[in-house]
Amino acid sequence: MQTTISPASARPQNSSYEEAFEVIAAKTLRNLPDLAAGGRTWSFDKNGAYEEWNEGFFEIGNWTTGFFTGMGLLAYLRSKDAAYLRAMEGMERHYQRKVEEGAGDTMHDLGFLYSPYAVGLSILTGESRFRDMGLKAAGLLEQRFIESGSYIRAWGRMDETGPEYDYDGLAIIDCMMNLPLLFWAARESGNRRFHEVAVRHADTTLQHFIRADGSVYHSFRFHPDGRPKGPDNYCGRGVETHWARGAGWAMYGFALAYRHTGDTRYREASLKVSRAWLALLDEEMVPVWDFRLPAGEDKLRDSSAAAIAVCAIQELDDAGLADEAMLAAKKALLERLCSPDYFDARPEVRGVLRFGEVGNGVGKARSAYTSWGDYYLMEALGREMGLEIPWW
Ligand code: GLY
Repeated sequence: MQTTISPASARPQNSSYEEAFEVIAAKTLRNLPDLAAGGRTWSFDKNGAYEEWNEGFFEIGNWTTGFFTGMGLLAYLRSKDAAYLRAMEGMERHYQRKVEEGAGDTMHDLGFLYSPYAVGLSILTGESRFRDMGLKAAGLLEQRFIESGSYIRAWGRMDETGPEYDYDGLAIIDCMMNLPLLFWAARESGNRRFHEVAVRHADTTLQHFIRADGSVYHSFRFHPDGRPKGPDNYCGRGVETHWARGAGWAMYGFALAYRHTGDTRYREASLKVSRAWLALLDEEMVPVWDFRLPAGEDKLRDSSAAAIAVCAIQELDDAGLADEAMLAAKKALLERLCSPDYFDARPEVRGVLRFGEVGNGVGKARSAYTSWGDYYLMEALGREMGLEIPWW
């Protein structure tokens, strides 16, 4: 098993950013029809085929389908080739069913799923059916808001309450990336409730998830009456560790919350978490999946965390907030991700980005291709090429 990726290679770029983007676009055009036709959706895979670890579109664990359609949106944004629109429309019945039948009421990842689908298609095509779909998804997400504790419940059906339900009272850092769906819905519908819920959840995250040193908790629990119970963990190595991807969600999520609100507390949170994250990189550049692993444990890397962090820095840069050290780190991260060590350009392999981490590091799919890693790398490349991403 590979625990580190040789730093010996002279960080060559296997292609220009444009070429790398086009490689992913070509894979996307082949992937989307297969994804639409199959009964399962893809998430991650050791070999990049995205067939080993797949999931039902309506299963609670599915948060990843939007990354494939998101790659279609990015390719369309760049090329204006209608073939990408047709390929994405092949997924419509799945997305529609999920909001129609309330299947989304089992988890909070409606933003991860519907921002890079319904919101993107609504903005890019002007078709009202996608706007309606996005608003329905935002409505389902809003229903997961717990008034007493001012947070969006992460997982589990909302009627599953009580001590026997592990997910009752649980919020997680990843949810920062679901908030853009609510900000969009507030503007689109004129219903301020969406904005209020997003802001209150972001404020709660600000209060309970970010440690003084800029590291981040994965989860936080609340009592039924809203009183804070304390931190928890499902995705990092432990409650008090520093999960690299979770910090990436905070870096990008707070930067986006700043874009949507102008609230400088969110700006400062993103900068603080970003600086702490960047200070922990070693010569490999791609972070160890959790910065606080017990001594002697395999230092598996998480390329997806690196791709998310690049997007976060680009967002901060767009707001005029990234300093020279951040921009240099962004460049080095992106070059490393585009090197042959990480970037799989082979057309016959569905996946792109090697060495992503899945789950809490003890599961079976260690060092896998991940759909989210592929997506955020493509977004980072697109942003580097000047694309403005309107769906977050
Ligand atoms: N949102 C789930 C993860 O980052 O693994």
